[in-house]
Amino acid sequence: MSVSYESPGSAAHVPPGRAALHLARAATLAPSPHNSQPWLFAEEGHDHGFEVHLHDGRRMILTDPGGREAVIACGAALFNVRIAVRQLGFRPAVDLLPVSENSRYLAHVGYAAHAPAEPEETLLARAMTGRYTHRGPFESEPVPDTLLDELCEHARVEGASLQVVDEPEQLRLLADLVRTAEDLHRSDPRQAAEIIRSVGAGGVPVEACRRHPDATLLAGRDYLGFARYCPRPGRRWTGSIGTVALLSTLGDSRTEWLRAGQALQRVLLHAAAHDVAAAFHTQPLELPTLRTEIRAHLVGGMFPQVVMRLGRAPRTWRAPRRPAVEVLLHAGAPVRWRR
Ligand SMILES: Cc1cc2nc3c(=O)[nH]c(=O)nc-3n(C[C@H](O)[C@H](O)[C@H](O)COP(=O)(O)O)c2cc1C
Repeated sequence: MSVSYESPGSAAHVPPGRAALHLARAATLAPSPHNSQPWLFAEEGHDHGFEVHLHDGRRMILTDPGGREAVIACGAALFNVRIAVRQLGFRPAVDLLPVSENSRYLAHVGYAAHAPAEPEETLLARAMTGRYTHRGPFESEPVPDTLLDELCEHARVEGASLQVVDEPEQLRLLADLVRTAEDLHRSDPRQAAEIIRSVGAGGVPVEACRRHPDATLLAGRDYLGFARYCPRPGRRWTGSIGTVALLSTLGDSRTEWLRAGQALQRVLLHAAAHDVAAAFHTQPLELPTLRTEIRAHLVGGMFPQVVMRLGRAPRTWRAPRRPAVEVLLHAGAPVRWRR
């Protein structure tokens, strides 16, 4: 069963089941481009399962025309659902794209055999509420190599690859590509407006963008339009860029984007469980020519999906989420697809 995308009318008002609400709450804690939260979930009655859908109307139209980043976000939400199912004491049975490769119905999660959660799964579950996106410099303490190795292994287990970029020439190339993409976004009034519009109530919190976007080697999104009136950061920052890493997949289909999202969230949660946060710099991946450069020169021909930095920093904000009851439907319920 699935939700109907085309029918008019709002979601049928049936109180959600507790297990479905638990899964939806976990799912909404996932990261998404500019906190767009491009997802909807549907519960199937009688514990038959839980559906993850792309809410295409919430996709970033200009920076994510093909929906790749929105599907990655849904993949991250799916990973949280898997972990939340484990917390209920079941193994998740995941069916990716159960209808077709291009469908907005991205995944079905059923309840398989009963089995208590492993300690690592409990660690990841506990990290869900503490994980957050950092922007700006990190503290100078480096991320330990052992933790980086663990993060790479977590990505591998999910069918993706996490590569640390620490060679100076490669770092310089990546910084140049991020800079080029960010400059193009800033100089295009429509793109700049799309980013600025995402800040505020329900989106990216203003406090999360208070650092100048150019305060580290990798240019950040200019959420507040800083660069227009203050082209350079006001003071020299003594913090660190952190560890730069690229998450890539072997292919570039919707299935691979879902894989990338699950790998991303597994990496982020394991990092958060060890007090390490991530900052994102995905701008060059939104421009095909720049993405091709990264593909050819930095990830050995794989498809780059996320550019990030990892490091330690105190958390000072919390990005809001739409309440679980607003994004959880009954399978089969008609819904009006609107932002
Ligand atoms: C695919 C993807 C791309 C993202 N790209 C950026 C980015 O370029 N710059 C940025 O500051 N945050 C980026 N983010 C992080 C979101 O802005 C962040 O997840 C969202 O605001 C919710 O905040 P939280 O992660 O603190 O919960 C990205 C997230 C995802 C999933």
